[in-house]
Amino acid sequence: MPYSQKVLDRFDSVLNEPEKHAVGRFEPNDPNVATGMTGAPACGDVMRLQLKLDGNTIEDVKFKTYGCGSAIASSTLFVDMLKGKTIQEAKQIKDKDIAKALELPPIKLHCSVLAEESIHKAIEDWENKLARRQHNQL
Ligand code: FES
Repeated sequence: MPYSQKVLDRFDSVLNEPEKHAVGRFEPNDPNVATGMTGAPACGDVMRLQLKLDGNTIEDVKFKTYGCGSAIASSTLFVDMLKGKTIQEAKQIKDKDIAKALELPPIKLHCSVLAEESIHKAIEDWENKLARRQHNQL
């Protein structure tokens, strides 16, 4: 199963310059950081996405992905897609958008699903943090 040139380019680029592609992590106790971690039951790969928020806007993104080339390419793509977006806009990002942009073959679609789920989990974490904050202010 050949990877598309887009996957290969992103994969090579992230291997050569991981910081440029936002590989890493933010301080998890930072109140403006939300984390989403997801495992793919089909293959056991794991993706951790962190969002750094300024109010409702995603000002920065970091990730660590233990997985295949498609999962790593999907991670670099969601970094590009998420930076500068609001939470509401981020909720609109779908696995199909990622799969289409990277030309993933059907056997690799679950890699883009992993990316979408990581985004949703990070947003859920953020919304839970906000709810707790509001609750504590009452
Ligand atoms: Fe596991 Fe791609 S094969 S995420």
